[in-house]
Amino acid sequence: MRMYDVIRKKRDGGELSDAEIAFFVDGFTKGEIPDYQASALLMAIFFRGMTERETVTLTDNMAKSGDTVDLSRFGMLSADKHSTGGVGDKTTLIVAPVVASLGGRMAKMSGRGLGHTGGTVDKLESIPGYRTSLSPDEFLGQVEKIGLSVIGQSGNLTPADKKLYALRDVTATVDSIPLITSSIMSKKLAAGSHNIVLDVKVGSGAFMKTPEDAETLAREMVKIGKGCGRNVRAVLSNMDVPLGSAVGNSLEVIEAANILKGADSGDLYEVSVILSAQLVSMVRGVSVEEAERAVREAIRSGAAFAKMKEWVSSQGGDVGYLDDTDLFPAAKYRKDVTAPRGGYIFSTDAEKIGEASVVLGAGRASKEDAIDHAAGILIKKKTGDRVEKGDVICTLLTNDESSLADAEKEVLSAVGIGDEKPDNKPLVFGIIS
Ligand code: URA
Repeated sequence: MRMYDVIRKKRDGGELSDAEIAFFVDGFTKGEIPDYQASALLMAIFFRGMTERETVTLTDNMAKSGDTVDLSRFGMLSADKHSTGGVGDKTTLIVAPVVASLGGRMAKMSGRGLGHTGGTVDKLESIPGYRTSLSPDEFLGQVEKIGLSVIGQSGNLTPADKKLYALRDVTATVDSIPLITSSIMSKKLAAGSHNIVLDVKVGSGAFMKTPEDAETLAREMVKIGKGCGRNVRAVLSNMDVPLGSAVGNSLEVIEAANILKGADSGDLYEVSVILSAQLVSMVRGVSVEEAERAVREAIRSGAAFAKMKEWVSSQGGDVGYLDDTDLFPAAKYRKDVTAPRGGYIFSTDAEKIGEASVVLGAGRASKEDAIDHAAGILIKKKTGDRVEKGDVICTLLTNDESSLADAEKEVLSAVGIGDEKPDNKPLVFGIIS
């Protein structure tokens, strides 16, 4: 088989055979197919698309390109969630203990933040002592014992995706539905869970800017996941505005802990309940309504917070910080950003807020950058709120005083204030199953 022929076939709109796709994934992962030929095929896929069968085959081959996690010992109870990336999205810190407290088995590998979106691993590392790296035996043993573990991606999981994603990033081929689908779903399949909820973000802070595009991607991912034998649902959730009121690592852990201690209102609470209810209904085989009642009760009764403490303590984290969140070190510098005029806030651009948090030190512009766990933004007013001139919109927190001016400029450019009260956008645009 020649790569030249595979590229030409896709360029001319043909359907690749299973053998041709396997040849490409295997050869590219081993370094036998050069980047320039892989780039040409990616661009041909970008323009010509892929059939469902081609996407299933591509996903399956990518999932098997490296190590895979065997969760078969947990039967139908294994559960995972994936967010396509958001700002202030700390739902994993809430959903994982809620689902584990209701019988699910969450063996979760999470990523670090890059660019304007945060990562669960960075957030967890703000808890003193928390170990994000466990041996496979420790990881699975903990899930068996307490129902949950969250670690950083380890081992050689989906090397095909790592190489392909790096190439897509520099060849303008990221935003292709079959390529995004195979990238995300290959990682989820390799991570081993039977039940998977995909939180597909929609809006200014997300990959998918419109509900229509997000729905197309979500339908494709659900179809492909099911085609590979998994139980998959997708929730389309709003990312025009950051989720919750904290953006930044320890700030988000504190907000998540407060939800599990009973702060049961607001967008973060509701989205976390919706995601948890989907997983609990899959794990327990009950209706979403029944699962949702159980989820709200697990939070209200403190069972989910107790599970969060059990989880953090099992991974070496100091749970004193969850009980008394004032123990988290405070940033040295803080600055209130105030409304330049009165009116209604009609936009709180999530991407720009995420970028401002990176300027303050909460995220990284490149992989090697260090994180300031105390840095970030506490949002006091969001889209739809009424403000008077001089009201505090948000507070910037950092250990780098010189970052405050640039971050303030970025935040002010993110927040639009007008005379009309904007229409409320839904928190969730739909659920695909
Ligand atoms: N996230 C991924 O993991 N892969 C993509 O292609 C896009 C978003």
